[in-house]
Amino acid sequence: NPKALRPQPGDRFAYLSGENKDKPVMAADIKIGDPPRLAYPVDPATETIRSGSRVNQVLLIRTDPSALTPATAPRAAGGIVAYSAICTHNGCPITLLDGDNRSVVCTCHGSRFDLADNGAILTGPATRRLAGLPVAVADGFVTVAGAFTGALGAATSQ
Ligand code: FES
Repeated sequence: NPKALRPQPGDRFAYLSGENKDKPVMAADIKIGDPPRLAYPVDPATETIRSGSRVNQVLLIRTDPSALTPATAPRAAGGIVAYSAICTHNGCPITLLDGDNRSVVCTCHGSRFDLADNGAILTGPATRRLAGLPVAVADGFVTVAGAFTGALGAATSQ
């Protein structure tokens, strides 16, 4: 089932909700300080949106490229980093950028993850970092450049 496949190299992204739902995520639209963009991978050949699996939800932000740690920089593109959007605590989608413009907050129970440092946990109750997803930019589209770099989904509810 191509809708439930994990992100594949060369996939683009489509917004998951909001006024741009199903529209492509363009690199130029993601600015430092913007809220996380939640998106699903899309097969560009068939335009299949890979929404058949909830753990395919990805969040994208742009950070200061000079702030990225050595673990993170090789899989970023112009400061754009991508991670699983599913909180590792109990599976809520992560929707809030912290004031430092590099970490995100899960509004369910307050876990914070540093997206400039490989999804590291800054504040619990989460006990597992967020899985990263390597990205690139091609023809202005944000694209997938590799597989998720860690375990997906909630640590406690599956
Ligand atoms: Fe995210 Fe609990 S589900 S902190």
